[in-house]
Amino acid sequence: MKPKVFVTRPLPAPAMELLSSVCEVRNYPEDAAIPVSQLAEECREVEGILVNSARVSEEVLQAAPRLRAISNCGVGYDNIEVEACNRRRIPITNTAGSLEETTADLAFMLLLATARRAIEADRYVRAGRWDRWQWGLLHGLDVHHKTLGLLGFGGIGQPMARRGHGFSMRVLYHARHRADESVERELHAEYADLETLLRESDFLSLHVPLTPQTRHVIDGKAFGLMKKTAILINTARGPVVDEAALVEALRSGEISGAGLDVFEEEPRVNPELAGMDQVVLAPHIGSATGETRLRMATLAVKNLLAMLAGERPRNIVNPAIYS
Ligand code: 8YV
Repeated sequence: MKPKVFVTRPLPAPAMELLSSVCEVRNYPEDAAIPVSQLAEECREVEGILVNSARVSEEVLQAAPRLRAISNCGVGYDNIEVEACNRRRIPITNTAGSLEETTADLAFMLLLATARRAIEADRYVRAGRWDRWQWGLLHGLDVHHKTLGLLGFGGIGQPMARRGHGFSMRVLYHARHRADESVERELHAEYADLETLLRESDFLSLHVPLTPQTRHVIDGKAFGLMKKTAILINTARGPVVDEAALVEALRSGEISGAGLDVFEEEPRVNPELAGMDQVVLAPHIGSATGETRLRMATLAVKNLLAMLAGERPRNIVNPAIYS
């Protein structure tokens, strides 16, 4: 008998076909987050869930006595109550390895777009306002030879360092664990404590997971330490930044701009941020290319199949359940 699984959104067809060849699959038909109560209802008999941004809470786990595998389609898994899964020895996987370069591309795009005022320039031309070359038109900030600060130096932080070096930037990073000397040398990145990172970065780009330790790590105090010309880039998770403090820092000129792909209460965007020319906004599209989304979905399916087959998957995020 095929194991029953539930998928929280429709997946690209090849990934769905692969999953259906081994499992009995039901999926939420909408390309939207399934409400928790409905997810709980759908999971009563399933052995596996493939989850894409839906919340896997205690309520869902309680409703799913046969559940033995959770495959998250995304690298960040703050949508899953890991402790509750650990208590039940349910393995969780993510899709690390499938989307990091793509997300670093978007982070660097936001950096360039904010520094060089790409959105304002585009709007200016389309509005028919461009009538002559002007000495002072749309001055931005240089990117090359500036300091790129990376908070987090993992799968996305490191490709971001490569991009910074390619633009002749000095690259600083801060992370919980300092990288090996060989990695620092290869990526031309220097370790800094958090305060130095905040003080010296011209561009501060966030690449940490959302955890109790990183929630609001960029707060009013952090903005107070940053350069007045600094630009903040966030492609990690919205709540890593205290959004009210960010609005205040931009309003008062404590920092000069922000490029944001993630927000504290998605999809709600603070109307004040949306009204600021020095802010570039994107709707959580860090991994949004056709190639990468297919890679993520396929990897998420393979992880789920490995867990259901009783194998220890490569992308396990809670290995403690095996000890
Ligand atoms: C996904 C992401 O779009 O991988 C992540 O952590 O934020 C994105 O790639 C998101 O997880 C929705 O599934």
